[in-house]
Amino acid sequence: MSSVQYKALKGMQDILPPDIYIWQKVEAAAREVFSSYGFQEVRTPVAEATNVFTRSIGENTDIVEKEMYTFLDKGDRSISLRPEGTASVVRCYVEKNLHTLPPPQKFYYTGPMFRYERPQSGRFRQFYQLGVEAFGDPGPRIDAEVISMLRHCLERLGLKEIIFNVNSIGCPECRPVYREKLIEFFAGGLDRLCPDCNRRYRTNPLRILDCKVDRCIETRQGAPKVTDYLCEGCRTHFSSLLSFLELLGVSYIVNPDMVRGLDYYTRTTFEVTSKNLGAQNAVAAGGRYDRLVKEFGGPETPAIGFAMGIERIIELLKNSASHDFPRPEVFIAAIGELAARESLVMADGLRTRGFWVEVGDADNSLKSQMRRADRLSSRYVFIIGDEELKSGRLKWKKLADSEQGEISMFEISDFLIQRS
Ligand code: HAM
Repeated sequence: MSSVQYKALKGMQDILPPDIYIWQKVEAAAREVFSSYGFQEVRTPVAEATNVFTRSIGENTDIVEKEMYTFLDKGDRSISLRPEGTASVVRCYVEKNLHTLPPPQKFYYTGPMFRYERPQSGRFRQFYQLGVEAFGDPGPRIDAEVISMLRHCLERLGLKEIIFNVNSIGCPECRPVYREKLIEFFAGGLDRLCPDCNRRYRTNPLRILDCKVDRCIETRQGAPKVTDYLCEGCRTHFSSLLSFLELLGVSYIVNPDMVRGLDYYTRTTFEVTSKNLGAQNAVAAGGRYDRLVKEFGGPETPAIGFAMGIERIIELLKNSASHDFPRPEVFIAAIGELAARESLVMADGLRTRGFWVEVGDADNSLKSQMRRADRLSSRYVFIIGDEELKSGRLKWKKLADSEQGEISMFEISDFLIQRS
């Protein structure tokens, strides 16, 4: 016997019943809401050539610098597991010439993403996202629609106490001006910033604004706000977005410190946070990325999207709502060999009509079969033995309240439909 203990990798988890039913509920709700806005599903591979991610997400981001699962395949090609979905969908959009279709083209996706982060509550190395991407509309109307769709999705799931943080981080025209202002602001206080922020100062000073280290938070008090440096076009875009959000009844706060950890964003960015999560409190985030399709070799195509972190949504739902998990509709307890044979046929027939049916083990006593029905929380138990086989009538029992009766073997399906 081997004494090796096999364990899931750190930061990666098994998702089992009954939790899986909450996952399915979240996925079904999102599919329904996304479809009602005309988003269609796409599935892209979980691995891509590494440069699909490095160019788009940015060489100097935490994701690319520290968190990617990158390896050489057997043909010596550098491959990475996707740390997020947007880059893959853009690669697909350009490769499959989807820009030749009439805009806007709207897609959604779900699946695992991989980031080699330090695992903690709400932060995993394999985590799941439900994401959307809309191509070909410069906004701001569609920006408001996409944000409102996210709101509908979270509301449909019954999530409360969530905050929509919105911001505009400008465009290649105005962001460099703002960047200079930040560099000027932080120049005198570098010794007060953490080592990471000293590095960010040189590579991407905007990221200093969302560092969580206390002394960085203190040092950035009074830093210039990006929204004060937007060019005319970005300012109008942003103020129109806010007015559309008001029109649609989305409550938001403008958070000029909310800069995203991915480099591809232009103009609109947003993040939904929950008061009921710990440090990892973002349940969804996204923004506009008007230059990415072109960078991938496609035509100039504005785009916007977001991704929800499914684990974080599940965490909130587990703590806030009671859940009705599926259970067997019918348990057939059989006594004797002939009844056991008949129970198999009955179960098969009911299953083709869509009922969840469990069959007792006729080698066990009726008492032990009933115990199993109880453990499974089966809604009804049907009992079949020699007598029942002769008469064609079965005894049934509803486990919740012990209601019982008798029924013809041929009427079980109608009985269940009437009572469902
Ligand atoms: P992101 O902010 O990196 O954006 O991730 C989106 C969401 O995924 C986060 O708000 C969080 O809920 C979840 N998430 C991220 N990392 C982890 C982790 N290690 N463990 C658990 N959950 C996590 C993006 O990925 C962009 N692609 C979103 C987007 C789509 N922008 C435009 N289109």
